[in-house]
Amino acid sequence: MSLEFSADAQQKIAALRERYAVSGSAKPVVMAALHLAQKEHGHLSDDALKLVARTLDLPYAHVYGVATFYTMYKREPSGATTIRMCTNISCMLRDGYAVLEAFEKALGVKKGESTKDGAFHLVEEECIAACANAPCAIAGTQYLLDIKPGQVPEIIEQLRKKPHPEGEVV
Ligand code: FES
Repeated sequence: MSLEFSADAQQKIAALRERYAVSGSAKPVVMAALHLAQKEHGHLSDDALKLVARTLDLPYAHVYGVATFYTMYKREPSGATTIRMCTNISCMLRDGYAVLEAFEKALGVKKGESTKDGAFHLVEEECIAACANAPCAIAGTQYLLDIKPGQVPEIIEQLRKKPHPEGEVV
């Protein structure tokens, strides 16, 4: 299926191209265009990547490479609030894996999966630059710091009351 951008997204991309394109190449705009495609189409399917490639006159392989390098881009449909649990060195040394397990248990999913109600998606993440407050996670746009495994059910409860979907990037 061939996807399209909304008129608003097309305008944003055109403005970004005018501002940031270097020597006619739209490569500096690819990340913003991927965010817009994800926002409008829910996740970055192959068709969404083709849309970005076609819109920016870039090779599909380049767009695919960017989309699959950064974990903030979703290649599959996922829950509304993504919980990104860091298990890199500082978090690992302070029980990050126990916290990840607590999230898996509280949500009834394994890392990489979404809850059946579509409310949450759980991801194991590399360093999220909050090592001083390890172990930590990001829920949508909110940092969760110094997490203890026993706090996880309450964190989920609070997130159910006040979800934190991915923020506006573009
Ligand atoms: S190692 Fe977890 S935030 Fe840096």
